[in-house]
Amino acid sequence: MTGLVDGKAAVITGAAQGIGEATALRFAEEGADVVVADILEDGGRDTVSQIEDRGGNAVFVETDVSQTEDVQHMITTCIEEFGGIDVLFNNAGIDGPIEPIVEYDEEGFDEVIDVNLKGVWLGLKYGIEAMLEDGGGSIISTSSIGGQVAVPEYSGYGAAKAGVSLVTKSAALEYATEGIRANAVAPGLVKTPMVENIMEQDPDAAEQFRNMEPMDGLAEPVEIANTVLFLGSDLASRVTGHTLAVEGGFLSQ
Ligand code: NAI
Repeated sequence: MTGLVDGKAAVITGAAQGIGEATALRFAEEGADVVVADILEDGGRDTVSQIEDRGGNAVFVETDVSQTEDVQHMITTCIEEFGGIDVLFNNAGIDGPIEPIVEYDEEGFDEVIDVNLKGVWLGLKYGIEAMLEDGGGSIISTSSIGGQVAVPEYSGYGAAKAGVSLVTKSAALEYATEGIRANAVAPGLVKTPMVENIMEQDPDAAEQFRNMEPMDGLAEPVEIANTVLFLGSDLASRVTGHTLAVEGGFLSQ
């Protein structure tokens, strides 16, 4: 049996936990060699072990996606370890401050833009540069429904995630004739440590989250991973420039 991404080399950021971890596992299951990139070493190494235990190939690279040298290193590691780069999932992200604009901390704003938007832009910049040398590829970046509709108290996060959709379109247009596709996924609410922390601290928010999407409850990380797998695979060979929402019908309301 052949996998959906057999023989491809994939770099996945934020792969120590949550959506990135689930995506790293799915890509490995479907035949890809995986670079697990994250600031969290323990979690990252754990993802690598899970992949190796199932017979796959993976390496961990400690990476802060907001730092140019780290992003360059993560890409060159993929080429050195696995002979090229076919897929990049720019997924690492933080929620940043949760405050109305007047109270919103300025440094927190800079940080959420640096990680969630500049980190994606750096991934596109150096990922595309490498893919141009390597016969093309597919880049997927994580946006959010919070980048399509405003969520009160998430101005920095929303601005970054809206930006992710737009830089994705820029990349799609600029490299459409060179074998490079760029798309984004926009999850609704997903059961990951990021959201579980908020739900634990705020029972009212937890109740609201459970009822937010027309479909029941929250998404499992693997449901986002499977969408990324589609976009990263040749099944999506004509799909570029899109932000594909995975939100149980939320945006249809
Ligand atoms: P998570 O907090 O469980 O995982 C995020 C991962 O990114 C962690 O492993 C963390 O160490 C890593 N990370 C954070 N800053 C980093 C940096 N500067 N460099 C490298 N790695 C870094 O969060 P989750 O939920 O898995 O989020 C993944 C992506 O999905 C994020 O971009 C998030 O904004 C987005 N998202 C999540 C939603 C959800 O409901 N969980 C909804 C919509 C979007």
